[in-house]
Amino acid sequence: MKELSLHVLDIVENSLRAGATEVEIRVVEDSNEDILSIEIKDNGRGMDDETVKKAIDPFFTTRTERKVGLGLPLLVQAAKAAEGNVAIKSIPGKGTTVKAVFKKSHIDLQPLGDMAKTISALVALHPEVEFIYTHVKEGRKLRFSTKELKEKLQEVPINNPLVIDWILRFLKKSLNELSGGA
Ligand SMILES: Nc1ncnc2c1ncn2[C@@H]1O[C@H](COP(=O)(O)OP(=O)(O)O)[C@@H](O)[C@H]1O
Ligand SMILES: [Mg+2]
Repeated sequence: MKELSLHVLDIVENSLRAGATEVEIRVVEDSNEDILSIEIKDNGRGMDDETVKKAIDPFFTTRTERKVGLGLPLLVQAAKAAEGNVAIKSIPGKGTTVKAVFKKSHIDLQPLGDMAKTISALVALHPEVEFIYTHVKEGRKLRFSTKELKEKLQEVPINNPLVIDWILRFLKKSLNELSGGA
């Protein structure tokens, strides 16, 4: 994988397969601390300690369609390549938090990729799931919540193509503003 946003898709896919109805995605970019972190928190079925330990093993998967599970091992590999690490916390029946931390200035850090596209695609594909996306960049903060948007939309479905297009443009503009753009 070449972009961190693609890892996000993969990790969120695990959450959805675990039956999550709410997924929080939090990205923090902090140049002073020289850290980029990505945290994905879900309210899915969770894992016991033993499963958490096995989850980062490429030959472990609870899927039945194929024999290797690479989502978490690839994220661990990307983190290690950038002097970072991945921590998984999970409580059976409650949910899972996966947090990847990277050294922001590291030459081998994969680019973040297109988070606006990633989030809008997740909403389009999983309109019934609540997504909360926060992105903090050098202290400036963006927060997007499908729950709040759904309240405003009332009977208009959130996966209406016009709404998805609005979300994409809103996130692009907001992320651009976080970067100091007008
Ligand atoms: N958020 C999660 N909630 C519950 N179980 C998870 C979660 N993420 C990963 N797992 C467990 O860890 C396994 C490995 O995940 P992953 O490395 O992404 O491979 P794959 O998804 O292909 O199985 C999954 O099959 C699942 O059993
Ligand atoms: Mg996976």
